Amino acid sequence: MNFNFKTNEKGNLSIGGADALELVKEYGTPLYVVDEERIRNNYKRLYNTFSSKYANFKIYYACKANTNLSVMKILKDEGSSIDAVSPGEIYIALLVGFKPEKILYTGNNVTNEELEFALSSGVRINLDSLSQLEKLSKLPDTDGKEISFRINPKVGAGHHDHCITGGDLSKFGIMEEEAVHAYQKAVDLGFNPVGIHTHIGSGILDPEPFKLAVHTLMDVAGRVYREAGVEFEFIDFGGGIGIPYEPHESILNLEMFSQEIIDLLKEKLYEYNMGNPAMYLEPGRYIVGDASYLLTRINTIKQSYRKFAGVDAGFNTLLRPTMYDSYHHIVLASKPNAKPTQKIDIAGNICESGDLFARDRPIPDIEEGNLLAILNAGAYGFSMSSQYNSRPRAAEILVHKGRSEVIREREAFADLLSKQNMPERLLK
Ligand code: LLP
Repeated sequence: MNFNFKTNEKGNLSIGGADALELVKEYGTPLYVVDEERIRNNYKRLYNTFSSKYANFKIYYACKANTNLSVMKILKDEGSSIDAVSPGEIYIALLVGFKPEKILYTGNNVTNEELEFALSSGVRINLDSLSQLEKLSKLPDTDGKEISFRINPKVGAGHHDHCITGGDLSKFGIMEEEAVHAYQKAVDLGFNPVGIHTHIGSGILDPEPFKLAVHTLMDVAGRVYREAGVEFEFIDFGGGIGIPYEPHESILNLEMFSQEIIDLLKEKLYEYNMGNPAMYLEPGRYIVGDASYLLTRINTIKQSYRKFAGVDAGFNTLLRPTMYDSYHHIVLASKPNAKPTQKIDIAGNICESGDLFARDRPIPDIEEGNLLAILNAGAYGFSMSSQYNSRPRAAEILVHKGRSEVIREREAFADLLSKQNMPERLLK
């Protein structure tokens, strides 16, 4: 079992030194609890492992995983840069205090307005198509603007089809055969191409496809350098590093993985005589995934065709099990290490049959009122939550050294209506 959750002297689940049962007494359920130290440790582990082998290494936190201001500020303080995929993410990152030059904007299917916003914010723009390049070139003041391209390296990987972003079915990036032409065109249009990027998918625990992508990207970079004369300031291998969600899954051997990637990088830099550009990674899940727990209370136990434990969260709170059939480990917060005695379906409170956190899950004895903790809820948990079924979104709590602070208030009914407007004529 790879989940290093802790228990306190009462035997209750302890998150960042705080008792899960006490937290819900204070803040209610469903509740996202974020462990600050875990985020810092994840960042440091990744940074130290890579930078000890290649000094010019930078982490661009993929903030789509969790855009909470406090989470982003913690990562800013650790020294992170930001991978942003929308104007909203740029806006939040700037608000947190990230300098524009530390934000890389990788949009796809962007509008002129979005490009204008990125341009005026001063962030770096990573282009996804030749069409985007042309659109950008038509905007004012782009002469000398630093840009990069996202390349599809013909290989993809990820925990689910929806999360594979390279290869022949992917909508992302430009074809590697197109790369030299794209960079040449960028130069001709007066841009200053400084980087090259790829991101092959999300939730990767097998290093092989990632290594293949690095290999291909480096060859593409080499060709662009030789044929278009582009000197790269950075080479960005994207995010995607997976974390174990299921008890039998193993952690990626970071030491070995980083060594293999860096060896490959150095070998190719030498082969093409490309100097010493910065190497970027864009992890989201690896940094925040195991740092949050979703606490939810069992309100109904019933036996129909199957035995169900119904809880007070749903796929509006945590979408991953429904959207990707993702496994999230679930423990009883009052006895996280209790042995399973039965198999049960754990269902949410949304009016859809797909609203299940687990099917046939081995679980210890439980009763109505018990608190469950859904593990590894930190990445794409809150950030993909919604108000579906007109359920206000959950609160987020940050815990640090046993202290807890609200970093996002629980929504109220009024938040369901905040942007609605009823035409005068309907009021009659
Ligand atoms: N860079 C780019 C350009 C990306 O599109 C992504 C994720 C990342 C970095 C970070 O990937 P990570 O290190 O977190 O794997 N909602 C899905 C994941 C979608 C990921 C989208 N792009 C999930 O819950 O599994």
